[in-house]
Amino acid sequence: MHVDLSFCRQEFPALDIRVNGRMAAYFDGPGGTQVPTRVIEAVARYYREANANCHGEFATSRRTDETITAARQAVADMLGATSPDEIAFGPNMTTLNFALSRALGRALTPGDEIVITDLDHEANRGPWQALEEKGVVVRPVRVNLPECTPDYDDLERAVTARTRVVALGYASNAVGTINDVKRVASLAHSVGAVCVVDAVHYAPHGAIDVRDIGCDFLLCSAYKFSGPHVGILYGRRDAFERLATYKVRPQSPRPPHKIETGTLNHEGIAGVIEAIEFIADLGTALRQQAAALPGSVSKGAATPEAGAPQPGAVQPDADHPAKDPASRRSRILSGFAAIELHERPLFAMLMDGLASIPGVTVYGLPADGKRTPTVSFTVAGRHPADVARFLGDRGIFVWHGDFYATTLIERLGLAESGGVVRVGIAPYTTSEEVGRLLEALKECASK
Ligand SMILES: Cc1ncc(COP(=O)(O)O)c(C=O)c1O
Repeated sequence: MHVDLSFCRQEFPALDIRVNGRMAAYFDGPGGTQVPTRVIEAVARYYREANANCHGEFATSRRTDETITAARQAVADMLGATSPDEIAFGPNMTTLNFALSRALGRALTPGDEIVITDLDHEANRGPWQALEEKGVVVRPVRVNLPECTPDYDDLERAVTARTRVVALGYASNAVGTINDVKRVASLAHSVGAVCVVDAVHYAPHGAIDVRDIGCDFLLCSAYKFSGPHVGILYGRRDAFERLATYKVRPQSPRPPHKIETGTLNHEGIAGVIEAIEFIADLGTALRQQAAALPGSVSKGAATPEAGAPQPGAVQPDADHPAKDPASRRSRILSGFAAIELHERPLFAMLMDGLASIPGVTVYGLPADGKRTPTVSFTVAGRHPADVARFLGDRGIFVWHGDFYATTLIERLGLAESGGVVRVGIAPYTTSEEVGRLLEALKECASK
């Protein structure tokens, strides 16, 4: 089943931008997605009606407290967490992960080991490597090339009785590989280690179930799923309780406050709720489109529980399905089913098109592999920045470089030549835009 989400485009004012007379086409989603009006309005509404610091005995402060509590619940619904107290906010994923690594690092002694992977964004490598200064040994797991998958055999060898933390990404922001995070969490726990998952790149594309994964901590960033620039940390209650965070004296020692140093980005957090509601509403649209199909048999046909699995798609919430179709969790699961059904065919079209352009080399798994709809490639004879500029001048926005997946780009031997060009599909992407991108790339590659 194909789902067309193009109706949602009217919610994104930034899609009206023109460059040299041409409509902007945003393929830069893996670096940050566009934002629907309801998110922009929620941020503005916060300033108009609730702007204050928290925990005060007056109206705007109470509204701020309510907003933050509601946002924790919305994120808990999105991630399948048990309680809103398992959700902390921060400036971005990287800063939260440094706070997490510093806290976990307090209990580590020289010779303790941490496992990371060469596939990962530096935000899930650097914070752990920083602990080397206290004698902790960091073991990077190799990446299989050319597939760009973690070498699970190497990972199994790296995890030993000395391992205290296993940190890995849910999906690669450079090449889209989706990792077997559940297997890795279980491996980490088999030696008593903590598992930390970086879900920043995966979160916009598929449903997450932290209880099913079994991870101790998971991080993501709202600006990658049409929200404001707010970092998110999930900590399983018992793991979060044990965490010895660095904090100031008046700060609550309880989760989630114990890791939230200083004043939060309240207006951004207000917008996070609407970003999640936006995803949930895409699920409603999926149900309506499924019901309108000729021969549609049951009302539940398009729910994630009953929907046909897409190639490479992780079945959302398999062990913890939200039974109540009206619940936000259930609507979010349907929303991600809709996003996958919209993005997959566009991605297949993109990958087919790239394969047909002479001089284009694509990195990573094939289109039907276990991956997100994000692809990186090079164009023979053209610097990646050159390709991005060529496209950018035509209103087509793509990223170039290494996107902080620095180690992977080094392993691919592309660091010296400027890295890769990266293209990502989002809920607002259309087939017309993919066609435009491919045409422009053909022209670029032939020059
Ligand atoms: C996979 C991945 N991890 C971590 C980050 C860092 O996120 P933040 O910008 O919130 O620090 C990014 C940002 O691009 C990312 O793609």
